[in-house]
Amino acid sequence: MEIRGSRVLLTGATGGIGEALASALTARGARLAVSGRREEALRATARTHGADTVLADLADRADVARLARECADTDVLVANAALPASGELLDYTEDQIDRALDVNLRAPVLLSRLLAERMAARGRGHIVLVGSISGKAATRSSSLYNATKFGLRGFALALRQDLAGTGVGVSLVQPGFVRDAGMFARTGAATPNRIRTVTPEQVAEGVVRAVRRDLCEVNVAPLELRLLSAVAGQFPRFAERVQARAAGLDAPVRQIVEAQRPLR
Ligand SMILES: NC(=O)c1ccc[n+]([C@@H]2O[C@H](COP(=O)([O-])OP(=O)(O)OC[C@H]3O[C@@H](n4cnc5c(N)ncnc54)[C@H](OP(=O)(O)O)[C@@H]3O)[C@@H](O)[C@H]2O)c1
Repeated sequence: MEIRGSRVLLTGATGGIGEALASALTARGARLAVSGRREEALRATARTHGADTVLADLADRADVARLARECADTDVLVANAALPASGELLDYTEDQIDRALDVNLRAPVLLSRLLAERMAARGRGHIVLVGSISGKAATRSSSLYNATKFGLRGFALALRQDLAGTGVGVSLVQPGFVRDAGMFARTGAATPNRIRTVTPEQVAEGVVRAVRRDLCEVNVAPLELRLLSAVAGQFPRFAERVQARAAGLDAPVRQIVEAQRPLR
């Protein structure tokens, strides 16, 4: 689908990857509406990119419905907002579990439901769901994040089939570890086993390609991570054994979990 002139709703616009997405989309001529929770950061992003703003807390059901109402004419939804949801399940309160599921899974599902109807009626639209390589491979201290990103993957791939023929495309974009900005980079941790990272700009390029070419699944990750996640997805018990034996995994995982704890 052509991005130039299209109305694009971008969630998570105040985050590390959101900023790169806003730049890439406006550079292609999108008419952008940006959404997030932090008002000052959102206004700053909107000023930079000439975008409209909609403040919304995606853990709040009324806010999700209002966001869809205020952006009812959206041609392209880029559902990018998420919480890191890292750490052990037994460390989570019920409220924190609800928030992770609501922001990472319920909100993109509901926004797709509400916006796709109008897109289909116009015979034109595209939905990009920003998942993660964690939607393909389970890792320790990540059960909630894995749950939401595995869920998002299944949702995206099935919705794409359901909307085939309506003029509305659905793409899943799955980044690996992202450097320079975003929820992983802010932790200051090294990647496990020196897996290479990608930039926010590469993720944004993946999203642009997905919309333009109606791609099903775009994995923005180095070859080693794409191979490891493909094997882990197919053989989870094998992946579990490899991770249990891998030396040097504990320290970075602990650093990531502790740095992301305040975001629960
Ligand atoms: N960074 C990585 O290494 C990496 C790797 C794989 C996949 N991803 C995925 O890429 C996407 C963007 O991640 P990022 O690294 O840019 O994360 P980030 O820097 O932590 O930004 C997260 C964004 O989500 C928004 N958000 C969080 N909770 C929200 C809520 N309750 N209501 C509304 N908005 C909320 C934040 O908005 P406010 O701050 O304004 O609340 C922020 O804009 C996510 O889907 C993530 O899972 C990231």
